[in-house]
Amino acid sequence: MPHPHNVFNFVAILGAGAMGKGIAQLIVQAGVKVVIYDTNPQALESAKTSITQQWERMLEKNRITPEDLKAYASRLTLAAQLEDLRECDLVIEAIVENLTVKAQVFKSLESILKPECLLTSNTSSLSITAISSALNNPKRLLGLHFFNPVMLMKVVEVIRGLHSRAEDSARLTEFVKQLGHTPVLAQDTPGFIVNHASRGYSSESLRIAQESIAEFAQIDLILRDQAGFKLGPFELLDLTALDVSHPVMEAIYHQYYEEPRYRPSYITAQRLAGGLLGKKVGQGFYTYTDGVKQQAPDIHGPLIDREDLPSVWVSSKAARRAELYALFKDLELQIETTAAPSAQALCWVAPLGLDVTTACVLEGLDPSRTVGIDMLFAPSQTRRWVMATNPALRADMKQAGESMLRLDSKAVSVIKDSAGFVTQRVLACLINICCDMCQQGICSPTDLDLAATLGLGYPSGPLSMGDALGGQNILEILFNMQTVYADPRYRASPWLRRRAAMGLSLLHMEA
Ligand code: NAI
Repeated sequence: MPHPHNVFNFVAILGAGAMGKGIAQLIVQAGVKVVIYDTNPQALESAKTSITQQWERMLEKNRITPEDLKAYASRLTLAAQLEDLRECDLVIEAIVENLTVKAQVFKSLESILKPECLLTSNTSSLSITAISSALNNPKRLLGLHFFNPVMLMKVVEVIRGLHSRAEDSARLTEFVKQLGHTPVLAQDTPGFIVNHASRGYSSESLRIAQESIAEFAQIDLILRDQAGFKLGPFELLDLTALDVSHPVMEAIYHQYYEEPRYRPSYITAQRLAGGLLGKKVGQGFYTYTDGVKQQAPDIHGPLIDREDLPSVWVSSKAARRAELYALFKDLELQIETTAAPSAQALCWVAPLGLDVTTACVLEGLDPSRTVGIDMLFAPSQTRRWVMATNPALRADMKQAGESMLRLDSKAVSVIKDSAGFVTQRVLACLINICCDMCQQGICSPTDLDLAATLGLGYPSGPLSMGDALGGQNILEILFNMQTVYADPRYRASPWLRRRAAMGLSLLHMEA
């Protein structure tokens, strides 16, 4: 007997590949009958075997009972032909990512299925509206985008095409909840929510590497230790593999008509051409030995003895100036409190979005004795100090700055001059892109944050991150970066600009 509260009673899955298998398993376990269809009979059989093996493993671990297993098995059937899907009331298509093939399959199904049967596509990159346009009734097709692996990735994007009906997206939303996953509602736009929201993280990190500011591994360590990401951008690119992620970067960039915020980098194009795809081939941004990433240790310059260190002077414009003073006091350094530094002092600037060079020039400081430190996060929130040099910095002053920070227990990275160091600029780009998604009405701010935490594993939603760091600080970073780089990539979204200007939360929606 079907569950009395089932939103759909009989679901057809097209495509028995990686996604189709996972989606079928999830739905059967939620108490709904499933039929899978695939043009390749071997794929179909092997999908059933693999799902059954999962259930047997769950039984061995006592996570399900023998009765559960029996019930699951009875709810899963295979279809030899499309006609076998006649009775279903929802279709989820997970076949090859090709618009013509997908549209063709839906068209053939249209005459077979009951008119009230809802059609959905699991496409990652194609337009739902474009897929639906081949149908006699394009209203009945929506996007239902699961993530890989389906059982573990707890978020599903429900995507409305131009013709979709609100009551259908509401039913799909209910259905996703019945599956125990979290639905987020997206408009039919390139990348939907998750693949769009993640643009800033990888593309700005690539840009930093391209500018020779820091090595790939250094950028990863900085973003993990300063901002709390589980994986650095280059570790992530190695996991997804460049044959998957580089085309996505290019596709989103071109689909948004060369929007500079999404501009990809030659780095991934070249590494893709060179076969450095990532973990699956043993070589990407890192080398993998027996599948284990080889992590190079932090690179450090020679240490200067404490008694030989110069005194320190902190810019009056430094972000979190009091906390920087407190750090130097704790480290028992000699601090100059005069308005101007002495001729021997090492000067510390802590700008938001400016590079050390520009801060030096604006404040009239001697660049040969000035270093920068990223103070975006409170020291208590981070595990790493990041110091930036400048082209005129003396070698002994660079060593002095690094030696001072290494007196503290946190890890230390020294990078070349950069407007916004590493963390500031990556977070500002990430948050800004997410703000603009809200401005475009692609999704609600709450769904955006949910999708990014569940779908990308971010430490918190990008908009909440922006709130925690201060919308005005993010705006200042972007404004200053745009001044230094003169690149429209860094122009602030009106969503961010207006909310930051009025002191509103980045999650705030107009009444
Ligand atoms: P896959 O290559 O593992 O499986 C596709 C299956 O579809 C194959 O078994 C193939 O025989 C079958 N197929 C091809 N043409 C067919 C047709 N005309 N009728 C019936 N079956 C047909 O692909 P995967 O990775 O499962 O992806 C499926 C869809 O899900 C794609 O649209 C993809 O973009 C999307 N997607 C993939 C994710 C992933 O991480 N693999 C994540 C989210 C979405």
